[in-house]
Amino acid sequence: MAIDRKLIEDLQRRRAAAANPGAADRVAKRHADGRLTARERLDELFARDSFQEFGLHAQHETRGFGMDKKSLPTDGVITGIGFADGRPVAGFSQDFMIAGGSLGRIHARKICDLFDYAGRAGMPVVGFNDSGGARIQEGVESLSGYGQVFNRNVMMSGVVPQIAVICGPCAGGAAYSPALMDFVIMTRESAHMFICGPEVIRAVTGQQTTMAEIGSAEAHARDSGNIHFIAEDDRHAVALVHQLLGYLPSNNMMDPPHRPSEDISLQDDLAIEDLIPDDAKMAFDVKRIIGRIADGGEFLEVQQDFAPNMVVAFGRIDGVVVGFVANQPMVMAGTLDIDASDKGSRFIQTCNAFNIPLVTLVDVPGFMPGIAQEKGGIIRHGAKMLFAYGAATVPKITVIMRKAYGGAYLAMCSRDMGADLVLAWPTAEIAVMGAEGAVNVLYRKELEAADDNSALRGELIAAYRAEFASPYQSAARSFIHDVILPRRTRGAISLALRSLLSKREARPPKKHGNIPL
Ligand code: HXC
Repeated sequence: MAIDRKLIEDLQRRRAAAANPGAADRVAKRHADGRLTARERLDELFARDSFQEFGLHAQHETRGFGMDKKSLPTDGVITGIGFADGRPVAGFSQDFMIAGGSLGRIHARKICDLFDYAGRAGMPVVGFNDSGGARIQEGVESLSGYGQVFNRNVMMSGVVPQIAVICGPCAGGAAYSPALMDFVIMTRESAHMFICGPEVIRAVTGQQTTMAEIGSAEAHARDSGNIHFIAEDDRHAVALVHQLLGYLPSNNMMDPPHRPSEDISLQDDLAIEDLIPDDAKMAFDVKRIIGRIADGGEFLEVQQDFAPNMVVAFGRIDGVVVGFVANQPMVMAGTLDIDASDKGSRFIQTCNAFNIPLVTLVDVPGFMPGIAQEKGGIIRHGAKMLFAYGAATVPKITVIMRKAYGGAYLAMCSRDMGADLVLAWPTAEIAVMGAEGAVNVLYRKELEAADDNSALRGELIAAYRAEFASPYQSAARSFIHDVILPRRTRGAISLALRSLLSKREARPPKKHGNIPL
């Protein structure tokens, strides 16, 4: 049957009208500002011609204060499914050029429908946020719409990966949808996010602040920890989405995209040993250690500017996707503080939700001492690490590189916290506390009485290390499986990963545990 030309033209006209709502000069201005349009963002995400739009013809009439009727094509959000790197992905993109991308009833309905579709199909959701927030003219309908979107975020949490890109304004309650998603990427120049802006803060509290201080990408990446990545621009944001998706399964019932190599690289890596200083007190960069363990030295660090005393990253080992959780001796000697605990436990939960094995690299002198830490609830926050590791049923492999003291030893996934395999380097020190502190507690009187205090102290420290902190002591008591040379680390982890990919662990039935929040 030949389709009537008029029908074809009518459809083409409708599509063109809905798809090109922005006047050419406004589009040009966006481009000049280094920003893409809502549709261009999705074009960048999806393979050419692979996008099936849902709701292009959705329209909603709204009223200005002058009671003039306005038609809002697509109702200010483009939604649909497409292929990203060969995998089906659901995407929505708020269109600032239509009523400021504000969210009204139909706008919310479209996002919710997309989430429902993605949930049934088991595919990731990527959302571009560029919006003036609740559509003022729609009042409580807009608030209800936000509520419905938040509810979908929660329903689909741990079911399909959710990635938010903030590439424009994201203000007030609207910021909670990205906050409920797994990863938040923010563009450096064109995005800002806040609950109460500088004017409101000034009016209510008298405090002076700026958008740069409270709402910029830098502030959220470094201070608040609300976001996971800064993108230089929209295209870079989409590149980060692709990178992230490369480590994530489409849903919680699937494995992440492992690409296991046929052979496991069991050969020694002598270069890793060059990275470890002779002096146990000297710091080393744990990212360089991760670089030696991960395939091709490649890994994707998450939240790199927030709590840099803890490093979390995705990578592959002989093709198997893993999440690295590592203390960073270069920053605050790798101590666990409130922010590091929040960062680490959240990442562990994300990996567990999406079946990603955990590789933990330990060099931790303990929890961070300080009044602010105690008052800020380091007990509650540090407990998140214990909880997240204890609750994680994915393969858990721990390598104790140097210090593993006290509660922090347990919080970095010791055998008792359910690690499947614990390896230690000969440089490991596993003990209740560091040698100097322990000697001070145990031999205070002897040290006070001695003429040559420093010689005695040195002897006692050496004896303590050999007797109480040596990895062989832990190995003798079955707290670690083996002491290995650092050169063997990648091979040993790789071998263990292959054997643990079939890991199954049953837990007592319950609704959910009660992680200390
Ligand atoms: C309806 C809106 C709108 C909104 C912007 N517009 N925000 N329309 N509802 N919330 C419209 C403008 O009227 C304008 O329409 C167009 O979008 C572009 O806006 P401009 O102001 O010209 O753009 P710009 O100068 O770039 O400023 C962007 C902005 C500003 C900073 C986002 O528009 C703004 O402050 N908007 C209001 C933000 C706000 O207070 N939202 C409510 C937050 S409370 P025309 O027709 O002129 O092009 C909230 C609660 C959520 O969201 C609660 C959830 C639980």
